[in-house]
Amino acid sequence: MKKIALALSLMTAAFLACDPAPVEEPAVYDPTLLSLNLRDFPDPDFPADNKPTVQGVMLGRMLFYEKLLSKDGSQACADCHRQADGFSDSLQFSIGVEKLKGKRQAMPVMNLAWHKNGMFWDGRSALARDQALKPIQDPLEMNESLANVVAKLSAEKKYTDQFIRAFGDPAVTAERIALAIEQFEFTMISNNSKYDQFKRGELALSSSEERGRQLFFTEFDPSGVKKGAECFHCHATFNFTNDEYMNNGLDADAEQKDEGRMKVTLDAADKAKFKTPTLRNIARTAPYMHDGRFQTLEQVVDFYNTGVKPSSTVEFLMQYNLQPGGLGLSAQDKADLVAFLKTLTDNEFLSNPAFKSPF
Ligand code: HEC
Ligand code: HEC
Repeated sequence: MKKIALALSLMTAAFLACDPAPVEEPAVYDPTLLSLNLRDFPDPDFPADNKPTVQGVMLGRMLFYEKLLSKDGSQACADCHRQADGFSDSLQFSIGVEKLKGKRQAMPVMNLAWHKNGMFWDGRSALARDQALKPIQDPLEMNESLANVVAKLSAEKKYTDQFIRAFGDPAVTAERIALAIEQFEFTMISNNSKYDQFKRGELALSSSEERGRQLFFTEFDPSGVKKGAECFHCHATFNFTNDEYMNNGLDADAEQKDEGRMKVTLDAADKAKFKTPTLRNIARTAPYMHDGRFQTLEQVVDFYNTGVKPSSTVEFLMQYNLQPGGLGLSAQDKADLVAFLKTLTDNEFLSNPAFKSPF
């Protein structure tokens, strides 16, 4: 007892001896670039005016998790783009601050540094920085004005300080908010899935995963000698997307409820075309497609096997899916494809502390 009392009084003495309040370092501009672990991914070729810096990325991360961006302070970007769900939403249609349902499934936010052909399912924003201000103002999402967001953030020292560190002065502007969010998104890189490790020769795939990989990367063979599922034509490159707007045959003309890319280009040839999504972390980003119609990867593979529908804009690449009997995948083939898709899960990315809330 005596010892504890002595220790306590020593601690109090030590505490009293300290300065009354720790003097906080004034915030200073710090343009140090953030070094990223690209592993075997190509150079993302960041825009010259917005290369990710340590402090810019920190600001973007704060903003991504900042509920003040929404009208009633109840919603942050991260509420619809959750890390455990591959930075997407497990709801078919996200719910905004007014408790209204959105019209499309939330897209995963990952590897956007390599998306060079527009953002959103219909590509209505050219760059990530243009995209970043849209959900704030969208009445079905955060429903807030940029002027209010600027005012709210300007009133917080933690933000004016962080704007100094990132941009050199405390001015909070919509443009800087957009640039900082873009920087943070540039760093959200998923490149260490089981498949990546396999590609780098660090491990082997199971025999089912390997058969699925072959199916994924093989063309359909009309002679029936070799099986192929044709997926790689559209889900192409290291990022499993060709970065194009396509119609993979979800609906016949009369059933199409969403005009997709046509809303942006006003070209009837783009009707029902949507951005080919990456398949990275796909096992974690259910539900699937722009309208979240499929709950499972098994349903997706069944769709590609025998469910593709003809329409005026369906891709020519779907010609074999459209023939009677479709791709002719057996139950085993389908299970193998799903097993392969699951190798794209990157647990390091999904739990990386650098992408968690900084608060
Ligand atoms: C209410 C839910 C919700 C909120 C809040 C939200 N998003 Fe989204 N996000 C979506 C939906 C839904 C889509 C797809 C919409 C579409 O394509 O029309 C999307 C699409 C995106 C995309 C496009 C990805 C791609 O591959 O093209 C990015 C990037 C993104 N959101 C980032 C953000 C950021 C940054 C914020 C915060 C400023 C945010 N989102 C807030 C639901 C939300
Ligand atoms: C002609 C191009 C094309 C081919 C071939 C193709 N896909 Fe797709 N895929 C797309 C497009 C476009 C979408 C988004 C469609 C939409 O939502 O309207 C998509 C969506 C998906 C999704 C849902 C992604 C998400 O985030 O919601 C999965 C999973 C998928 N494809 C897997 C496959 C597999 C497996 C194959 C091979 C059997 C395949 N795809 C073949 C173009 C293609």
